[in-house]
Parts: sequence; C-alpha cells; structure tokens
Amino acid sequence: MCGIVGYLGSSQAAPVLLSSLRCLEYRGYDSAGVAIIENGELAVLKAAGKLSNLESLLNTKQPQATVGIGHTRWATHGVPNDQNAHPHTDCTGTLAIVHNGIIENYQSLRQELSDNGHTFESDTDTEVVSHLIEDEFRGSGDMLTAIRGAVRRLEGAYALGVVSQIFPEKIYAVNHHYSLAVGLGENESYLASDSVAVRQYTNKILRLEQSEIAEISTEGVKLYAFDGTTVNRSPVEVDSNPYVIDKEGHKHFLHKEIHEQPLIMRQTLGKYLHHPEKPVDFSAANGSGHHCGDSSYGVHLSKEDLKKVRRIFIVACGTAYHAGLVGKYVLEELCGIPVEVEIASEMRGRNLLVNGETLTVAVSQSGETADTLAAITEAKSKGSMTLGITNRPDSHLAQITPNLIVTECGIEVSVAATKTFVAQCACFYLLALHIAEELGTIPAARILEIKAQLLAIPALQEQILAREDVVRLKSLRHAEAHDVVFIGRGMNYPIALEGALKLKELSYIHASGYAAGELKHGPIAVLDRNVPVITVLVPGAVYEKTLSNAQEARARNAQMIAVAIDGDEQATKIFDTILRIPPVDEFLSPLLTVIPLQLLSYFIADYLGKDVDQPRNLAKSVTVE
Ligand code: G6P
Repeated sequence: MCGIVGYLGSSQAAPVLLSSLRCLEYRGYDSAGVAIIENGELAVLKAAGKLSNLESLLNTKQPQATVGIGHTRWATHGVPNDQNAHPHTDCTGTLAIVHNGIIENYQSLRQELSDNGHTFESDTDTEVVSHLIEDEFRGSGDMLTAIRGAVRRLEGAYALGVVSQIFPEKIYAVNHHYSLAVGLGENESYLASDSVAVRQYTNKILRLEQSEIAEISTEGVKLYAFDGTTVNRSPVEVDSNPYVIDKEGHKHFLHKEIHEQPLIMRQTLGKYLHHPEKPVDFSAANGSGHHCGDSSYGVHLSKEDLKKVRRIFIVACGTAYHAGLVGKYVLEELCGIPVEVEIASEMRGRNLLVNGETLTVAVSQSGETADTLAAITEAKSKGSMTLGITNRPDSHLAQITPNLIVTECGIEVSVAATKTFVAQCACFYLLALHIAEELGTIPAARILEIKAQLLAIPALQEQILAREDVVRLKSLRHAEAHDVVFIGRGMNYPIALEGALKLKELSYIHASGYAAGELKHGPIAVLDRNVPVITVLVPGAVYEKTLSNAQEARARNAQMIAVAIDGDEQATKIFDTILRIPPVDEFLSPLLTVIPLQLLSYFIADYLGKDVDQPRNLAKSVTVE
C-alpha cells in the first residue's frame, strides 16, 4: 500500500527518493510522486502508473535539490491518476504533503475549507491536510505549531511527510497510529514508512511512536508529542544487511519465493526447534537473524498462564487467515483447547468475547495490517493474553504484543504470499507443540514423532519443487478456464481456500475454495465440462470422504485435478491430472499440499502474461481498514 520516503542532506535528493520508493514497490501502488525544494522553490512531480513513469519524468526534468519527500499511492479516495497522486499542495503552492492512511472526517473538513475559500485539486482525503496546515500556519507563522493545530482536527490513523519552501532545510514527519521512521546517516536523514527503504543508506533508525511529530533538519531530528512536549528517544540499530532486491536468476520474485520455502522452513524450525528430543524454545534469547534493536521478542507465557487458557482466538486477513485456519486444526489436536479463527475485519463493530482466559493470536506477515492490529488491540484492552506471529520484528504488531513469534522469511517481495504462509503454518505447529509440552496434553512419544516429521518437511518440499516442470505442463492444460473450484477437508480445507486465493490473485481467473463436503450444498451447480475441480487429497481420516466428494464432481463432467501423494492408485482412477507430492502424514500435509497449488497459479498467471509479482489492484500490506 502507500509508502512515504524523504531525504535531507547534501546529495541529490531525487535519486535517493526514487531508490527508496523502489524498495516500497512490493507493497503495491498505482501512482507515485515527489516534492523537492529546488532553488528555494517547491516543485512537485508525479505520475500515475509504475515508478518508471515517475523516473522518466525525473530524468527529463533533472531537478537539483537536496531536500524532498516521495510517495507511492494505492488508491482509496479517487481514481489512480496524476491529480490524485501525492504529494498534495496547499493554495499557496509553497507546502506539500505525502500521506499514508485515511483521514476519516475529510468530507466535513473539505466542506469547511472550501467554504472558507480553499481550492481543491484532487479527490483525495489527503488534500485537506495541506489546506489545514496552510490555515494554521497563517495564524501562527510556525510550522510545528501549524502541524500540531492541523492534527488536532484530524480523525483516523495516518502518517505524514511535509515540506515547505518557507523552511527549505526541513522535513516534518507525523505518525498517528501508523508506521514511520527516520534513518540517520552522516549529516543526512532519510524518512520512510517502512525501514526497508532506508536500509541501503543506514542502519540507525529512529522510530516515531504514536502521535508524534519529527522535525528533521541538517542538525538532526527533534521529536515532539502532539501536545508539544519534547520526546527523547535514542535511535536503534537494525539489521545492517541492506535490503537487496534481487531475483537471483528467477523470472519473478514469486518463483524465487516459492523455491525458498524449504530454506525458510529450515530457518524458522532451526530457530525454535533445535532437536526432536529438546523442547520447543521461544525464549527471546534464542532470537537470531534480523533482530530489531528495540524489540525483544519471544513467548513469555508461563505454564501457569497457559493453564488458564480456555479458548484461543486467531485473527488475521488474507493468506495469514488461511494459516490461522491450519493453526486451528493443529492447536485443537495437540492442545485440546477450542480455537476460533476470525477474519480481522469482521471484528469491527461487534462485541469481542475475549477475557483473561483467552489467548488471542494475531497472524500478519507485515505486522502492519490495519484490521489485524485493531482486532488484537481490542482483545488486549479486554484483558486477553496476546501473541503475534509476524515476519517483521520491527512492525507495529511487534510493538503491541508482549509475545511474538518471528518467521525467518526475509522480505517477501511478491504481493501474493507464499513463503510466509508456510512459515506461519510452521509457527502454529511449533506453538501447539510448545503448549502441548508445557501442559502435557498429548503423549511425549507423539510429540517426538511430530517433531521428527516436521524436521523432515523441508526435504519433501524440495522433492515437489524439483518436479515443477511437470506441474507446469499439467497446469497449463487448464490455463483457459474461467471458473475453478478447489475442495479439501480437515487440515486441507484451508489449503483449498489458499489455492483458490492464489489463483485468483495471480491469474484473475475466478476461483473459489470449499470444504469438500459443502460441494453438494451449492457449488456443484456451477460444475460442467468447462470447470476444473481441484481436490486436495491426502491419505488419513478424511481421505475416503474427500474422494467421494470428488466423485460427485466427476459425475458432473468437471475437469478432474488432484493434489495427491505418489503411489495413490485410487486417485489415478478418478482424476485426469494429478499434481504429486511425496507421502506425508495427513497432520503435516498442508506444508506440502500448498506448494503444487502455488506453482499451478504461478505458471498459469505467467502463461497468461499477468503481472505476477504485482497483480492489479492488490497491495502487499493493507494499512487501511
Ligand atoms: C494483503 C496481501 C496478502 C496478505 C494480506 C494480509 O491482502 O496481498 O498477501 O495475506 O494482505 O497481510 P499480512 O501482512 O497481515 O499477513
């Protein structure tokens, strides 16, 4: 989604802004722009579409400036065109702002400002902020006072970057329930809504906490609370490895990330499970890899805390929600605790039934998804124990949950989540094993068996990936489909949902996932010879019943595809196309069955010429509700 960057120093600002914006591209956007102070005058350059359009503009204009802010916009209010792209200026044309988030009361503010003579040039909620600051500045003549006056009028969660030609050597940054950080270099500063954008320049980061304003100048950074009091906070050092965007020989990031899954599994498992004979260890001291200076993560729930848990409540969105569904099966099976999984946005405007005997788990790759953050914040305020599973120890989620499990995925660049999904699922297996070990809910021998099987999963994933050419050939037989149905039962019901989501996101083919038993309760009506039905079929408790459901589809002449294990002869009789996986215990099978479905979606999307890494309309990190 939207991204903010800024630069103030002695180098040329435009290339730094562009390079920083490139690092935020993966979040999804549909226009981009910069505002710079050139020879004491504000200049705004913006362009709808890809960053390359802005780059061409900058190449033509060659602006000479050492101070500027930049933005990638993912349209919410107003179509993605040049006018609605950020930065937005005030009526005097001397002030420009970039904005992430939503100004919820923008309509009444816009009306009021228009009535007072302000002229608006865009359809965005953002533009009210520049006009509000303009009014406040006219009254006070002081930019900090003006910004404080303006934010008092704003409702919603947001981050802002502000430049003004009246103060040509300053950038102002505002954070209100969002995410914003200043990177500190040698006599230069970088602003970014995601620290990955500044890691190429510095690993010294000063994060803005809630309701804070930063005044960035050549002398350094001053922090203020919204009430004007000075805030003293030292910068932290983040992972010094710069964020490298490199496909490493793969055609797309998505392909690279699908292939990284065995490594990611090894890293995530390796961090928390050293040996099958040893207990799962989530202690913070065990943290390694991209540890983020100021957040010490780990699971700090004692045995007594865990004994109190009567219900586990999982909240998440998108692919993370599907990982949560896998987590439900795993936690209920190993811990005997009832688990509910909710789409985080569905928690709005309703009474959240959690208390001190509930453990609420938020799953979010980015740790910045607005709905997930809102749900976990509310659960916490109602006294629930909370735990986060994220790939970003430097995220907002990491700040608000006392218990944090970090997946070891590195940055996931492709908008469609793949490696983070398997890592999130792996974390649920580990969490369930940890609780089972603490509470003794299943025999030690079973725990040992599951741990050994879990540690063997990466090698099995490698076997699937080694046969991707076969998956490609088989997948392309169905590339012209208009509707695809995915079915699965039990542990593999979430995989049917995830398979359908991947195909939709990547290829824009309509696809739906169903619990296999639900097929006859409605979805069967859409089946005919043009509709592929993809069944996830693994030997175990629900194998026969899933097979029967697949037969129902076959009787309606659907195109029959399965994900099934090597040597499954029954499957050979029913399905026209089989995407094979090595034999695996049903309980751990989601860690394998999802991979052929990721590959199928990838190959079809690539064949259809879709924008695989940045599918239309999607954002990697959904920071608005
Ligand atoms: C967006 C992304 C999905 C992701 C979802 C939740 O929709 O495109 O890939 O699963 O957000 O994101 P999170 O960062 O909370 O896991």
